[in-house]
Amino acid sequence: MAPTNDTAARPSGHQQLLRAIVRWVLIVHAALLVVQPFIAGTMLDGRSAGAQAWHLNIGMALPAIGFLQIVVTLLAWRLARWPQGAFTGSIAVWLLELAQFFIGYLGLPLAIHIPLGLLLIVAGVGMAYYYSYRAVPDAQEPASTPAEARPN
Ligand code: HEM
Repeated sequence: MAPTNDTAARPSGHQQLLRAIVRWVLIVHAALLVVQPFIAGTMLDGRSAGAQAWHLNIGMALPAIGFLQIVVTLLAWRLARWPQGAFTGSIAVWLLELAQFFIGYLGLPLAIHIPLGLLLIVAGVGMAYYYSYRAVPDAQEPASTPAEARPN
């Protein structure tokens, strides 16, 4: 019987664990982003004394989890054949989140803070959907021989 490549293609236990961690980080990150405008609305309504503190605390947690996402997507890309796009996208989202934090913290115009917040929600939820809800195709490994590179 001809040897198959199935074992090589199937992710190992460690790779599956890493992929599961990436999925959960993406989902928690997206959920925290989605919560922010609701808290901001409560803050503007002036009905909850704690709303501003929650918006600030989640605002600090977001760049932290964004950085964690960079680390785990980097590890997953290098060690678990996860697509590189998740890593590059995470860097972009993290940089925007840092900007968003300082725009809010320094009281810079809401005309920038709110649209950027919405953009971040679209990016965060989009990444969580694309890379964790859908089945993620394995990153292509370079074929070692021309025969392997030929499509079936
Ligand atoms: C669509 C999403 C968001 C909306 C609508 C929103 C809205 C607001 C509003 C209305 C304020 C009060 C500004 C003022 O009083 O002058 C604020 C402050 C702030 N926002 Fe956001 N925000 C959003 C997302 C975010 C995100 C994603 C972060 C962090 C990455 C963030 C971090 C902050 C910070 C640090 C403050 C200052 C809080 C303080 O000084 O106590 N916001 N935001």
